[in-house]
Amino acid sequence: MSNQESELNLPVKEKIVPESLKTKTIDPKDYLTFHKLTLDNNLEFWESIAKELEWFKPWERTLDSSNPPFYKWFVGGELNASYLAVDRHFRSWRRNKVALIWEGEPWDSSPREVRKLTYLDLFREVNKTAYLLKSYGLKRGDKIGIYLPMIPELPIFMLAAARLGLIFSVVFSGFSAQALADRMNDAGAKLLITADGGWRRGKVVQLKEIVDKALEMNKSIKDVIVVRRTGSEVRMEKGRDSFLHDLMSQVPNNAYVEPERVKSEDPLYILYTSGTTGKPKGIVHDTGGYMTLLHLTMRQVFDLRDEDVYWCTADVGWVTGHSYIVFGPLLEGATEVMYEGALDYPEPDRWVSIIERHQVSILYTSPTAIRTFMRQGERWITKHDVSSIRLIHSVGEPINPEAWRWFFKLVGREQVPFGSTWWMTETGGIMISHTPGGYLVPMKPGTNALPLPGIGAEVVNEEGKVKSGEKGYLVLTKPWPGMPLTIYGDPDRYVKVYWEKFPGAFYAGDYAIKDQDGYFWILGRADEVLKIAGHRIGTYELESALIQHPSIAEAAVVGVPDQVRGEVAEAFVILRSGVEPNQGLKDEINRFVRDNFGPIAVFKDIHFVSKLPKTRSGKIMRRVIRAVASNSPIGDVTTLEDEASVDEIRNAYKEFM
Ligand code: PRX
Repeated sequence: MSNQESELNLPVKEKIVPESLKTKTIDPKDYLTFHKLTLDNNLEFWESIAKELEWFKPWERTLDSSNPPFYKWFVGGELNASYLAVDRHFRSWRRNKVALIWEGEPWDSSPREVRKLTYLDLFREVNKTAYLLKSYGLKRGDKIGIYLPMIPELPIFMLAAARLGLIFSVVFSGFSAQALADRMNDAGAKLLITADGGWRRGKVVQLKEIVDKALEMNKSIKDVIVVRRTGSEVRMEKGRDSFLHDLMSQVPNNAYVEPERVKSEDPLYILYTSGTTGKPKGIVHDTGGYMTLLHLTMRQVFDLRDEDVYWCTADVGWVTGHSYIVFGPLLEGATEVMYEGALDYPEPDRWVSIIERHQVSILYTSPTAIRTFMRQGERWITKHDVSSIRLIHSVGEPINPEAWRWFFKLVGREQVPFGSTWWMTETGGIMISHTPGGYLVPMKPGTNALPLPGIGAEVVNEEGKVKSGEKGYLVLTKPWPGMPLTIYGDPDRYVKVYWEKFPGAFYAGDYAIKDQDGYFWILGRADEVLKIAGHRIGTYELESALIQHPSIAEAAVVGVPDQVRGEVAEAFVILRSGVEPNQGLKDEINRFVRDNFGPIAVFKDIHFVSKLPKTRSGKIMRRVIRAVASNSPIGDVTTLEDEASVDEIRNAYKEFM
C-alpha cells in the first residue's frame, strides 16, 4: 500500500486546518451543498462569473450545445484578452502598479538583472509589439509561433498577438528542432518569434540554432523575429530573420493598436500536448470561456488581492504558464514574479531568495520542485525568511504526503493553505482544489480535494458507473468555460480521445479515487502518457525518437517511478543486426534522444533485448513490460505472441537492478 493510499480512509475532521485561517474555512459538506446548486443552475452560475469581465458586446447565448462535444460559450459576445489583461489596468489606478517583476538567471552575489514592468510599461510594450506584428501584414486568425525563453518578451508577444486576434502557439524552449518543426507545420504558423539563446543553469541554450534546424523541416514560416537575450553569435538569414531591437527602432514609442473585437468562441491559442498515440495534439482554447475560467480561479483558488505578490514557478511554454503566469494574473491586475532560470541555480536556495527578496505571498509550484528542495535539505530554506507566504498550491502530478508535509512545515509554517490543484492542458484552468469557491476545505495531504463551483467531476468505472472509494477514471460531467474548442485540424480525434469512452462526459485520462468526504485523489495517468518531472510526454513520442537512431530496429518505452521526478522513462530496444550492444552505444542513444526530442526526455535506463512482448496482432504490450519493471504481477498474457519475450525483459531488468 502506498503512503497516499494509507491516508485515504481518514475522515475529514482529522485533517489539517491551519489555525490562522479558521475563519475562511468551510465544512466540505456545506461546500458540496453549495457546489450542487452551481451544477443545478450551471448556466446562471457561469453567467454571473463572465459578467465580471468587460465585454465589448454582451453574449446572446450562454452555451451553444447544438453540436456536442463542440460546445461554444458566450456566443455573440465580443471581447479581447489583451484588452482585459492590459488596457483595463492601464486605464485604472493600477496604471503605475507593478505587473511583472522579472528576474534573470545570471547571478553574481545577487541577481544581475531584475526588471519591473508596470501596467503602463506593459501597455506600451504590448502596443508597440502589436504594431510591429501588424506591419508583417498579419491579420486576425493568422497563426504565429513563439519559441522563447522565460523573458518578458514572451508574455508581451502573446498579449500582442491576442490584441490582433492572431492565434499563437508557444513551444516550450526545452523542445528540440524536430518537436518545434512538427508543431509549426501542424499549426501552419507564418511567423516565428525566438531569441538568440536562453540561460539555463549558467549555460546558454542556442535557441536560434535549433530554430534554423527546425526551419529546414518547415515551409509555412516566412519570417523570424529574434530577441537578443544572451548576445550569442547567431546566423541571420537574409530576407527571413530580423532582430527585434532593429525592428522596434522603427516603431513609434506611443504606438497604439486598437484591440480587435474577437468573438467569444474565437481561438486564442493552440497548445500542443502529448497523447497516447501519434503526434502531439494541438489543443485549441477559445477566448471568452477561457478568460471566464481564469477569472474564477484567480479570485477563488488563489484568493488574489491587490497587495499580493504572486509567483508561479512554471514555464510559460506549458499550459500552467499560459493560464497562471500570463493570462490569469494579468487579467486580475496582479503583481507577479517571473523568473527566467533554474530554481536551484546557482545554489539550492535561489527560489527561497526570490520569495524573500520580492516578498512573495502566493506560490504556485510543482511536486517535482518540492521533492528536489527536500533532497537538497531544509537548511537552504531556514536561512531565509519565508513569512510573506500566505497561500501555496502545487500542480502537474500527484504530490506524495511526505513532500506535502515537509513543505507545509517549512514554507507553509503549518499555517497556510496548501493545495494540489488538478487540471490539464485541455481544461484550460484549475478544476479541482482545496480552495474551491474561495474557501479552504480541510487539507488531506496527497489529495486534490473538491471540484470548483460549476465544475462537474466524477470517478467512474469501465461501465461509466459512478464509484466512491474505488479506483476508477476521472471524468468531467458538464461542459465548462475554458474547455477546448477542438484538436487543431483533427476534430474527429477530439471526439474520439475525450468524448467516446464515456458518452456525454469528458474523459481526462487519469485514474482517481473519490473518498467518503467527496475528496478526489488523482492517482496518475491511465494511458501511455508519462509525467516526467511533471512534463507530459507520450511513450509513443519517445519510441519514435528512439527508432530514428540508425542502430535501433524497435523500441518500447514505459514509465517507472522516480523519487524526485515522479516518473522517468525506461526503454527496451532491439538493435539492428550486427550492432554491438555496449555502454558507449547506450550513452550515444541517450544523447541522440535528448538532441532529437529535448532535455526533458530522461531515461532511467536503456535495455538491449532481442524480443519485445507483443500481441499476436503485433502491438507492443507495455503493460507487461511495466509489470516486470515494477516487480508486480503480469496479469493476463493469453494474447501474448511469444512468452520468451517476457523472460528477456525480466533478465534485462535484473541485470540493472
Ligand atoms: O495526470 C494529471 C496530471 O497532469 C496531467 C495533465 O498534464 P498537463 O496537460 O501537462 O497539465 C499539467 C498542468 C495543469 C493530468 O492528466 N496532474 C496535473 N495536476 C495534478 C495532476 N495529477 C495529480 N495532482 C495534480 N494536482
